[in-house]
Amino acid sequence: MDGFIKTLPKVELHLHIEGSLEPELMFTLAKRNGIDLPYESVAQVQAAYDFDDLQSFLDLYYQGAQVLLNEQDFYDLTWAYLKRCKADHVIHTEIFFDPQTHTARGVPFDAVINGITRALEDGQEQLNISSHTIMCFLRHLSEEDAIETLQQALPYKDKIIGVGLDSSEQGHPPEKFKRVFEQAKELGFLTVAHAGEEGPASNIWDGLDMLHISRVDHGVRCIEDESLVQHLMEKQIPLTVCPLSNVKLKVFDHMRDHNIVELLRKGLCVTVNSDDPAYFGGYMVDNFLAVAHALNPSKRELAKFTENAIEASFLTLEEKTALK
Ligand code: HPA
Ligand code: ZN
Repeated sequence: MDGFIKTLPKVELHLHIEGSLEPELMFTLAKRNGIDLPYESVAQVQAAYDFDDLQSFLDLYYQGAQVLLNEQDFYDLTWAYLKRCKADHVIHTEIFFDPQTHTARGVPFDAVINGITRALEDGQEQLNISSHTIMCFLRHLSEEDAIETLQQALPYKDKIIGVGLDSSEQGHPPEKFKRVFEQAKELGFLTVAHAGEEGPASNIWDGLDMLHISRVDHGVRCIEDESLVQHLMEKQIPLTVCPLSNVKLKVFDHMRDHNIVELLRKGLCVTVNSDDPAYFGGYMVDNFLAVAHALNPSKRELAKFTENAIEASFLTLEEKTALK
């Protein structure tokens, strides 16, 4: 089974590039940029990654991102992730980035987007990994701030396929971003949003109804609303589920309690993703292995995660057919 999982072709649809910052690269970039870290060693960083909930993770995630200053830093970060993709047989990836985490520190928008996309272009050429980029708004910041970020992205519109919503779900419901998502849609961006991770199932309904999202990021709390589960199944609305993340952030106490295989068996379009692999204990293969060992899906079911992810991706029909 483990050998099957390792070589199974995979498609990743829920990956925060800032969350792929490994402690080793964090130290390298801190040194290169003259930034003091509150850690002495890689082991100390890893010991700090013991989270109670989403917010306790976000605090360290934003702190870690402070070592990213120049275009080359974003290139190195993205390139390191792509090499892990290659090792894990990831053939296509759609990555999130959080511009506000960087522009708020004075890092120019173009350093972020150019560093990331230059690495993605090299990933296509040298590693044969195709990709798209999705810009997330931080939901703990204001709607106004999100609107300004959307404006900043316009010169780079050809490099960004969609917009998303991440950060603290509790207290920042989809409704807060209704207008900026409307604007983004009018400009031709696709939309996704984190919903039903820590927040209630009603956030998933609101993401669909108010933000017109094409995919739900996480979405595991849909299980609390039977009519929502039915709707997600009938419309085949994809969920980008992140198993290791959910256990690390205590959305589920144990992997054996995770509902990903249950949702798959109910006929939902669920996919496996790594979210923030440097913080949550693993990349795509690690997530598949953790699911397989705890929940005993069949090989056919594991392959279905990839088939679902191809279908749920923002590739064209032609590109999807080429991957199958
Ligand atoms: N949830 C919300 N915000 C995030 C996450 C997540 O899993 N990862 C990075 N930002
Ligand atoms: Zn996420």
